[in-house]
Amino acid sequence: MERTLAILKPDCVRKNLIGPVISQITEAGFKILALRMVHLAPHTAGGFYAVHRERPFYKDLVAFMSSGPCVPIVLEKENAVADFRALIGATDPKEAEEGTIRQLHADNKGENIVHGSDSDENAAIEIGYFFQGLDLVSTH
Ligand code: CMP
Repeated sequence: MERTLAILKPDCVRKNLIGPVISQITEAGFKILALRMVHLAPHTAGGFYAVHRERPFYKDLVAFMSSGPCVPIVLEKENAVADFRALIGATDPKEAEEGTIRQLHADNKGENIVHGSDSDENAAIEIGYFFQGLDLVSTH
């Protein structure tokens, strides 16, 4: 079993899509191990995306991610990291495959509804950013 970190971003919350998106995730076979709703301060959003701090979109990304509440979720499944990235689709919803979460719901690549970890190593770091071991509930 593998874990990944999803974040339902502020646009997902504003559009009232928490329920439908979580349904799509669980119908795809992911188990929810932990979940919370949090309004990130700019420095906290910036810390999460620190690897992107030299990129031209960093300032807008931090402003967007701290613009309202978001919902970090720890997901578990075999091959969770790759399978979740397939489920959410490409960063730019215009390039995302039919039926993916971003293709269905996202407006553009800055406001793209959901985040998913891009490797096992980053999944562990990102899960630790939002959750403690005690928060992770065994579903077995
Ligand atoms: P995410 O998977 O959360 O990881 C980094 C985020 O930066 C990405 O999704 C996008 O929402 C955001 N972003 C904004 N502009 C760009 C861009 N031009 N290229 C890549 N990512 C971008």
